[in-house]
Amino acid sequence: MAVFAQKEGFTPTPSLDHKYSVEVVDSTPEAATAIGVAVRRGGDLPPQTLVTWDELNAVGFEGKPGQTHVIPAKPVVVLVGVGDELDKAQVRDAAAAFANAVPAHGSLAVAVGEVAGVSTEDLGQAVVEGVLLSRYRYDALKTDAKTTPVSTLSLAIDDARSEALATGVARGVACAEATMLARDLANTPPSLLTAEDIAEVAVALGTERGFGVEVFDRAALEEMGCGGLLGVNAGSEKEPRMIKLTYEPEAEPTGRVTLVGKGIMYDAGGLAIKPGDAVHATMKNDMSGAGAILAAVAALPSLGSTTAVTGYLMCTDNVPSGSAMAMGDVLVVRGGKSVEVLNTDAEGRLVMADALVLATEEPTDAIIDIATLTGACLRTFGAEIAGLLGNDPEIVEQIERAAEATDEPVWELPLARRYRRELDSPVADIANMGGPNAGTITAALFLEEFVAGRPWAHIDIAGTAQNAADDKWRPAGCTGFGARLLIDFVTNFKPSTNGGTPS
Ligand code: BES
Ligand code: ZN
Ligand code: MN
Repeated sequence: MAVFAQKEGFTPTPSLDHKYSVEVVDSTPEAATAIGVAVRRGGDLPPQTLVTWDELNAVGFEGKPGQTHVIPAKPVVVLVGVGDELDKAQVRDAAAAFANAVPAHGSLAVAVGEVAGVSTEDLGQAVVEGVLLSRYRYDALKTDAKTTPVSTLSLAIDDARSEALATGVARGVACAEATMLARDLANTPPSLLTAEDIAEVAVALGTERGFGVEVFDRAALEEMGCGGLLGVNAGSEKEPRMIKLTYEPEAEPTGRVTLVGKGIMYDAGGLAIKPGDAVHATMKNDMSGAGAILAAVAALPSLGSTTAVTGYLMCTDNVPSGSAMAMGDVLVVRGGKSVEVLNTDAEGRLVMADALVLATEEPTDAIIDIATLTGACLRTFGAEIAGLLGNDPEIVEQIERAAEATDEPVWELPLARRYRRELDSPVADIANMGGPNAGTITAALFLEEFVAGRPWAHIDIAGTAQNAADDKWRPAGCTGFGARLLIDFVTNFKPSTNGGTPS
């Protein structure tokens, strides 16, 4: 009998197997069983429904953003309130409200109107993302899945705008699929997605989508002096994996970005074992940074990114055992810096250090790291805003713009070097933990130590990786936060003009 859910025939990426079609049409197709129509406050109502504003007001529908009214007919018509003015994020939210209002319907159509200030391309992208992401469920291990998946999504628009819409739709599909892949990877229980397993997923994706994947095992990591990843892995019965992804555009690249992701497949805390509270049960998501990078890079070939990308996924679990690293141990990371381990639960920064040094060894215009790094970030910003720190204002601003475009919010914290002394160690070059306060800042200061002054930004997704309850296009569970943000950042990337702050 299998102790954990059967692994036979199990795939950690069920979303990739789910087949559905998204199409641009000139009128809503007969096969659609539910049609979404945006309604402004006091605006035009779809004539065929024969419903009036008096009737709608009588049941409390005022056209407020997120409000829906389902008209039972064949097909079902869903009025979705959109208030007075809409931006891209609200279009995505409205599409999600539509899909959530008719959970039993798989054949959906949306009548795409005009929205002042939002391009037709962005409309297409946002509608697709809103519908597909709101219907996502991780049900690979459920006997009876409760949510009806989308089988067909038709976007109806007049001919003149259909080409622009189709471009946005293709982008929306690529971005939604990336997020769903990142969600699948993070939602998969730790025993079913080990470091070795995620390396296999990466290799398969690289072959299928057309990007390079190189996998480094324990022996290779020893050879390379990756003492951070090896130190964290020391307590584990499972092998570590560093996975290097490379995406090269067909023409000469317009820039080079290096992405570094924390891939702790399960964070028990090591010898500083975490208490058995609810947070402990979410630590299968401690590889969300690595998952977001893998999903984003997998989308780049189809999007024709002109930016070249190298990705490092630093994968192991962090568990206690007789062979685990102890408090007081000193690790030597790639490049030779020594690190005193004051807390084995501050493991993310240890595995990231090796990769940040590797990132500086090759030409790059920017290093971006993404990690479920600190509980302090969750407490500072809650579950809806990620922490952002960096040494280059232009790169930080480009991350902020991508966050805005994708509605994956970030907020910058100061990289306050006055706190660097908290990381001083009496025995090593640096300690892996600062004082009890400003934990997100001291964690970033630790990472900065390894980027050799390259343009760099750090995204702390400890809060945003996980969602407690269903919310618009983010169902409860692992959110896949970062995949769409990174795609947007990479595809719009411009090298910084100031070349980073020298350390
Ligand atoms: N993976 C955790 C961070 C985390 C905590 C994410 C809670 C989401 C929710 C990380 O490895 C960790 O344990 N960080 C410690 C660092 C401390 C020991 C300096 C933390 O934040 O408590
Ligand atoms: Zn962790
Ligand atoms: Mn930890």
